[in-house]
Amino acid sequence: MGSLITSRHIADLTHFSIFLLAFLLSSSFTATEAYDPLDPNGNITIKWDIMSWTPDGYVAVVTIFNYQRFRHIEAPGWTLGWTWAKEELIWATVGARTKEQGDCSRFKGNIPASCKKDPQVVDLPRKTPYSMQVANCCRGGVISTGIQDPANSASSFQLSVGRSGTTKKTVLLPKHFTLTAPGAGYACGAAKVVRPTRFISPDGRRMTQALMTWNVTCTSTQFLVRKTPTCCVALSAFYDETVADCPLCACGCHTRPAQPGRGCAEKDESGFARSVQCTPHMCPVRVHWHVKRDIGKYWRVGVTVTNFNYQKNYSEWNLGIQHPNFNNNLARAFGLNYKSLPDDTGMLWGIKRYNGLLREAGRFGHAQGELLFRKKDPSTFTLHKGWAFPRRVYFNGDSCAMPPPDAYPQLTTSE
Ligand SMILES: *[C@@H]1O[C@H](CO)[C@@H](O)[C@H](O)[C@H]1NC(C)=O
Ligand SMILES: *[C@@H]1O[C@H](CO)[C@@H](O)[C@H](O)[C@H]1NC(C)=O
Ligand SMILES: *[C@@H]1O[C@H](CO)[C@@H](O)[C@H](O)[C@H]1NC(C)=O
Repeated sequence: MGSLITSRHIADLTHFSIFLLAFLLSSSFTATEAYDPLDPNGNITIKWDIMSWTPDGYVAVVTIFNYQRFRHIEAPGWTLGWTWAKEELIWATVGARTKEQGDCSRFKGNIPASCKKDPQVVDLPRKTPYSMQVANCCRGGVISTGIQDPANSASSFQLSVGRSGTTKKTVLLPKHFTLTAPGAGYACGAAKVVRPTRFISPDGRRMTQALMTWNVTCTSTQFLVRKTPTCCVALSAFYDETVADCPLCACGCHTRPAQPGRGCAEKDESGFARSVQCTPHMCPVRVHWHVKRDIGKYWRVGVTVTNFNYQKNYSEWNLGIQHPNFNNNLARAFGLNYKSLPDDTGMLWGIKRYNGLLREAGRFGHAQGELLFRKKDPSTFTLHKGWAFPRRVYFNGDSCAMPPPDAYPQLTTSE
């Protein structure tokens, strides 16, 4: 009991200091201050390429690159905002639209798309007519990870800016960039003028370059602001009937005390349908790692991801799993895509049109696959002391709650 209280206190203290940290940083966030332990160099880079000067401003192509390993931008997609340095306005956008026009009452005839000092831009839907598109636009604001789908890991639009400087010397960089995405927070640094982007013509024979380029780097703040996990892990093995299930109340508690093994109503007392199925852990997502077999040079694991969320399909979901046997690409996956990453991490994701979409809670709300590990050095492999279980598991880049170590399946001494 004593140790329980201690760890609880530590957890409270950690929450408090994370809260404090988030509070202290929120006013003066720069991109370099935040880093995700699982993906320390992960970022989203926004690049503005000025392609031509106009009589009262410029035309730019803006591209959002997702350089994060595990975090993608889900539907309904990104919103990019900034504050103009002076009186700039947006005459028109191609391949995206401004959310609000603002006060353009001074204009007659030619009306700008947005006169706001702090405009916000969103992507266009996939069914946008081809004549209104630019390359890499119009995917409903969804951006994949480069590992899962490199061709869809960037998003572009074109912007015609007016009432701005019209030369490299007089143009002013926009300030206070903001990037928002469903269920995700980003902190963006200041725009920096960088070497102009070079473009190679489709036939590869001609090189052109932007007139001016600036970059903005944004990093995820998700791991700072999340108070409770959004996923949890269950562990089991062929040698023990015990399933070390997700910790009780791992992602929140039900209004009535949740009891393991007892289902609760799908509607809460007020009659509103809960969006997450009632479980003792109350997590929207559960990852089950089952050690299936130990077969000579190999050992085999079954992985099941279950969606308990009634109101959400997870498209392009992924898992990051830390286990020493992912080192040196010693694994093969069946029914899932797999890539070995540094730091003993394996990334797993669904196969398009098979289990790439993790369906909402219910009959189809799960994805399954198997991992076959080759024992590089059989002497390091052991079923003892939980070696065969992952050290950490991440779903879409967020760390999942693990069962307490004393609940792990145990190997009886004879084996
Ligand atoms: C953003 O990520 C890219 C790709 O990993 C990396 O090359 C670049 O240095 C990162 N930028 C910053 C400012 O961290
Ligand atoms: C600016 O961003 C682009 C796109 O990510 C990248 O290729 C380029 O290296 C960046 N420039 C600098 C100086 O970081
Ligand atoms: C999830 O996707 C399926 C298949 O596309 C669809 O029928 C279902 O309505 C979606 N559910 C939610 C909650 O969006």
